[in-house]
Formats: sequence, C-alpha cells, structure tokens
Amino acid sequence: MPKRSEQLRILMKKKIYIETYGCQMNVVDSEVIFSILGKEGYERTANMSDANVILANTCSVRDNAEQRIWGRLEVFNQEKESRSGVVVGIVGCMAERLKDKLIQTGKVDIVAGPDAYRSLPEMLREVAPERPKINVLLSREENYSDIIPVRMDKNGVSAFVTIMRGCNNVCSYCVVPYTRGAERSRDPKTILTEVRDVIEKGYKEVTLLGQNVDSYHWKTDAEDIDFPDLLEMVARLNPSLRVRFATNHPKDISDKLIEAMARQKNICHHIHLPVQSGSNRLLEKMRRRYTHEWYLERVRKIREVMPDCGITTDVIAGFCSETDEDHQLTLSIFREAGFDYAYMFQYSERPGTLAARNYPDDVPADVKTRRLNEIIALQGQLSLESNQRDVGKTFEVLVEGPSKRNQEELCGRTGSDKMCVFPGKGHVAGDYVSVKVTSCTSATLIGKIV
Ligand code: SAH
Ligand code: SF4
Ligand code: F3S
Repeated sequence: MPKRSEQLRILMKKKIYIETYGCQMNVVDSEVIFSILGKEGYERTANMSDANVILANTCSVRDNAEQRIWGRLEVFNQEKESRSGVVVGIVGCMAERLKDKLIQTGKVDIVAGPDAYRSLPEMLREVAPERPKINVLLSREENYSDIIPVRMDKNGVSAFVTIMRGCNNVCSYCVVPYTRGAERSRDPKTILTEVRDVIEKGYKEVTLLGQNVDSYHWKTDAEDIDFPDLLEMVARLNPSLRVRFATNHPKDISDKLIEAMARQKNICHHIHLPVQSGSNRLLEKMRRRYTHEWYLERVRKIREVMPDCGITTDVIAGFCSETDEDHQLTLSIFREAGFDYAYMFQYSERPGTLAARNYPDDVPADVKTRRLNEIIALQGQLSLESNQRDVGKTFEVLVEGPSKRNQEELCGRTGSDKMCVFPGKGHVAGDYVSVKVTSCTSATLIGKIV
C-alpha cells in the first residue's frame, strides 16, 4: 500500500478516466460526472494508465453486462497494483445493485449509485486505503438539472439531454426501477436552457432521453406540461435543430404525441416502441399493460398519421414459461408491425425483480438461443424489405462524418433513423444534404446527393 502522503500527491494530479457501459442515459451521466469533477479541477484522460481516478459507469440490465464489469475490475486492479495512489470507483446501476459485493472484493475504493454523483468530489477527498466510500442513496428529486454535461461525443453533431430519471413501471423482468429509483421529470426551463446551450455549441440534433419519455410530466401551480408539450417547446427553439426522443412505453404513446410529431417539421419521424413479446399471456406476466392487438393499433395510428415514420423495437426471447406458441406470436407481431430495426435479447433473470421472485427461469438456454436466432433472422429480412421500400426515394440526411467502411464516403441518418452512406465531397459533419437512395443492404441505405 502506498503511503498516505504519496496517495495525496498523486490525487493532486487529478486525472480521471471513465469507462461507460449500458444505455445512453449512462453516457450522459458520465458527462455529468465529468462536469461535477471538472469544477473540482479534475482533468479528463482517455488513457487509463495516465489516470489516478479510474471509474466504470455500469449497467445491470442483463447478467452479461455485469459479468463484463467483474472482468474490467481485474484490469483496474492490475493498474492499481502497478502504480501507487490509484483510486478505483464503480458507479451507476451495478454499484446500486451490488454495493456490498463490490466493496468485499477489496478492489473498489468508491461505490456511487446514479443519484450520488454530486458527492463524488467529497468521496474522492476522503477516500483512503482500507477506507472505501459508498453512497447509493436513491433520491426522489435528483435530476442534475443545474449541471450542463461536458459533451464527450466525437462529431459534435448529435447531443443527448436527459429529461427525466428513474422509472415507475414495474415490468416484472426489469432491474431499472431498483437501480434508478422512482420516476421524476426535470423542470422544462432547465431542459430548454440545456438545449439552447447545445444549439450554441453548434449541435444539429438533440435526443431527449428518459426510460419512458411519454410519461414526462411537469406540474406546478402555474404550469402543466406533458411530453408532447415539451417536445414542441424544444422543437420550436430552432427549426434547423433535429429533435429525437427515446425511449417509449407503448401504453403511453398518445395521439397527442403522434400529432405533435406530424406538426413540427423538425421532430424526426422515428419512434422506438419496445414490444418485448407478442403473446398476451406473456405481456401480462411481464406487466407491460398492453396487448398484442392494442400495440398493433398504435402502430397503425402512427403509420396513418406519419406514413414515413420509422418504428423500432426491443424484444425478449425466452421469458419465463414461454412456449413455442408464445414465440410464434412474437414472430407474428414482428411481421405485422414490420419493424425497421430491433434490439433483441435473451431473457436474463435479474435478482430481486418480480419475475425472479415469482416465476422460474424455465426456458432452457438452447431454446432461448434458437428463438432469439429466429427473431434475428426474421428482423434481418424485415429490415431489408423496409430499406428496399426506400430505394428510389430522396431523404434529408444529417451528415455525421466519414463512413466507417469507406473513408472516401460520408454517412448520416435519415429522419426515420436509417443509416445512409453516399459520396459527399465538399460536405462535412453537421451539413444537411438530400440523398437519393439507389440501393441498400439490410443495415444501410446507399445513395447519392441530389
Ligand atoms: N425503459 C425501456 C427499456 C429499458 S431496458 C422500456 O421500457 O422499453 C432496455 C431493454 O432491455 C428493454 O426494452 C428489454 O427489451 C431489455 N431487458 C430489460 N430487462 C431484461 C432482462 N431481464 N433480460 C433481457 N432483456 C431485458
Ligand atoms: Fe424497465 Fe419497464 Fe421501466 Fe422500461 S418501463 S425501464 S422495461 S421497468
Ligand atoms: Fe443499464 Fe441502468 Fe441503463 S441498468 S440500461 S445503465 S438505466
């Protein structure tokens, strides 16, 4: 163990390195952490061996997300043993869920849950060998509203703004309500201030983030603002700012939202609408509070009002007691909805959730894998068909930068959130261009500027 004086000397250097895992909300949270620690004189480094504070901002949503962190902890520990005065912290959802287990390893000095980031400076001041610091208190108010995140994205085109934290739904498979606490909406004034800041910094696209943005609600004696209201307020700030949002719970997708999207030209026509299963029996068991038929009615309404709207989804294969018949219903809702893209997962039991307490995780691993692969194959076909329908059409695309595969070409997204590649000499990230689609794969539209 290094001497305390030596540890203090190294802490004076104040260089911080963060690895971020999990959802986009964690990415913004890491930006909030940089902002909080930046005010204390900490500098950011992208090089772990240059840092005296090493943090991992973690995710607990599936077991494999947590397994990765146990692996990283070994690497951080080697770093700690090779140099003196290195502080290792685990923050975020896994810190919330596994605080004691993390501390017991003896490899972690700081454990901070998602609502405890304001206390990081103090924790870093007080931490000492053999004296780890823990703060996993969840809050009913914390929104980090007054903190402008230090944006870490690479291209300076697309920014993310958190509009609410936590979740009040208790989907039976999901750990998020336990790791992130109760739902709370952020004061719209602070959201608008942050979006104005993003516009001033030259960003062209903003995505409003929350676990269930449709249940955003700000109510005071003077104000009563729901998500469609907020979305329009943001969109009206600047007509050339593209506005997106994620993620949505199907039960809360309102006609008012769909109409606001259709009305404001700069709200992108894309809705992420996690379906999770096509079987009413399982939807009930998952506590999703909608049915197969109701979900499809929402899809029909979206397409009726906005025929060009991209619809994407999340799905879980092999939830407790899932039969082949249930699985067939999931495949059929995929066909009926004709999703443009999907994030597809095998069910992973999370300790402490309603499902873990009440239902055995009884679908064998090989069956889960087979069903997941069938969904992936079907979605590949649906994505291809969806892209083929766009061949011959022209879209406004926001340039993100050079294409990953071919540096000579550019890439960017359509409003419906499809990736597009095209030759684009003279254009740079942040430009809007009109692209005519000439061909496609299941993952990408290929086109030319017109
Ligand atoms: N708030 C969002 C989802 C957050 S988690 C919503 O309600 O849709 C992102 C996705 O992870 C979920 O949509 C679900 O498909 C998946 N997921 C959540 N818990 C899971 C679990 N225990 N096993 C497998 N996938 C899970
Ligand atoms: Fe989890 Fe359901 Fe909340 Fe989404 S809405 S975060 S799936 S509990
Ligand atoms: Fe994971 Fe927490 Fe996000 S569990 S998905 S990082 S809210």
